[in-house]
Amino acid sequence: MNILLATAEVTPFAKVGGLADMAGALPKAWAQGGHNVIVILPLYGTIDTEKFGIVKTDMLVDVPFGTWTEYAEVWQGTLPDTSIPVYFLRSSDYYDRPGIYGYHEGFEDNDRRFIFLSRAIFEVARALDFRPDVVHAHDYHTAPCMPMLKVHYHSDEFFRHTAGVFTIHNMAYQGMYDPQRAMEFCGFPASEFYTGSWYEQDGIFNSMKAGILFADKITTVSPTYAQEIRWTPEGMGLQGALQSRGADLIGILNGIDAATWSPMHDKHIAVPYDADSLKKKDINKKALLKEVGISAAEMKRDLPVVGMVTRLTEQKGVSILAACIESFVANDRFRLVILGSGEAKYEDLLKNLAYRYPNHVRVGTGYNEPLSHMIQAGADFYLMPSKFEPCGLTQMFALAYGTIPIVRSVGGLADTVQDYDPITFAGTGIRFHRYTGEALQHALETALRLYKREPHWSHMRRNAMAQDHSIVTTAQRYVEVFGWAQEARR
Ligand code: ADP
Ligand code: GLC
Repeated sequence: MNILLATAEVTPFAKVGGLADMAGALPKAWAQGGHNVIVILPLYGTIDTEKFGIVKTDMLVDVPFGTWTEYAEVWQGTLPDTSIPVYFLRSSDYYDRPGIYGYHEGFEDNDRRFIFLSRAIFEVARALDFRPDVVHAHDYHTAPCMPMLKVHYHSDEFFRHTAGVFTIHNMAYQGMYDPQRAMEFCGFPASEFYTGSWYEQDGIFNSMKAGILFADKITTVSPTYAQEIRWTPEGMGLQGALQSRGADLIGILNGIDAATWSPMHDKHIAVPYDADSLKKKDINKKALLKEVGISAAEMKRDLPVVGMVTRLTEQKGVSILAACIESFVANDRFRLVILGSGEAKYEDLLKNLAYRYPNHVRVGTGYNEPLSHMIQAGADFYLMPSKFEPCGLTQMFALAYGTIPIVRSVGGLADTVQDYDPITFAGTGIRFHRYTGEALQHALETALRLYKREPHWSHMRRNAMAQDHSIVTTAQRYVEVFGWAQEARR
């Protein structure tokens, strides 16, 4: 099958969150399964072309944009350690600046930047003579590919067999734009925008809604989230649109790339280990504490370590953590190591805590790939008290590293972490339900009771490490859905 993956993020070139991990890992698994894959994303000013061997091709694509035509250079690289081609759109007007989405507010011309990307991918495919069986778009950035496929390319001989699949990674960001501008940039008649139309939500252009309604099939990143977004406020206002697509909306659980995330083969950690050599996890714990500046004398007191690696947004539950953490650290119950970047108010709150409890709270900010691995290997527990969580990858990394997840039971967290049961010895972590500091406090108490309490501690860690969340299974599910999308092609 010819698969064209269109996205705003791909690891290791441009990453903000898990979308990049998925866009980097799925193509590898598809290629191993014998499919032809190309990946297209913008050449942001932050991408290090030299480091990744990304070179300019002689392709300059014409991109119909509104009633005029714009141009983009096409640069080419490959996904690391593969021959899978990645095409980068270079446009000095749109992408040649630091930042993927902008700073706290987002760039003012994000409508133009991502509508341009959505349109350009078709023209790159044509220039490459790559006839996609499926265009796989991700999140609001490339959601406009779905209506474009049906409106502009439906009767285009080149795209005769192309189906559109739209994957939702997060309903919280919908690409809501000024309708006049967005309809024009997309090349759609202004008259097609009216109350109740497929582009409209609350009077504005909504990329996510259009993606949902025009796609041949829609997927989201966990089965539980697929239900939540239809039937609860997690649909963020688009429940009606999602319900109207009925069985076309499928939850496919994300997976992880074992080449990058396995404690036996992780190049960032102090010593490799597996389920039979869990003692070595202690060496990684010490290495982590040293890395974050805990003194050797202090380290002699072996407290449990709770880790977090996260975007600092409302989604990730920092406020309920703030509501209950103090009593734990003030009473010497555990150490907390957080790597996070995002909203200033959360960064400040955590830094303040670290300032007051330097032996108990350590905070890393900015994007730090090696430290993110060291936390997974060195922590005893991994905390994810999310308000909502479409899937979440870091709790799956934690499971693979024998680091016990403490999670709120929502979205993909509910699908990947089973509550430990001391009667049957089954389960992989600790779950809680209500979104309150109290509920989290209770879960942390349960976790501390289980810490190093045998035989439970060993059972829990082994159960966690025995979980299989391979990207290969995930990738196969997508191919199945691509097949259904082709049958359903409208
Ligand atoms: P989300 O996509 O909502 O941010 P996920 O759990 O799906 O959540 O994916 C987050 C990804 O980003 C993981 O690969 C995680 O390790 C990584 N990550 C998040 N924050 C940082 C950071 N500050 N430094 C390095 N990696 C980070
Ligand atoms: C989103 C979600 C996260 C998910 C990731 C990859 O950013 O917030 O839960 O794991 O996308 O699908």
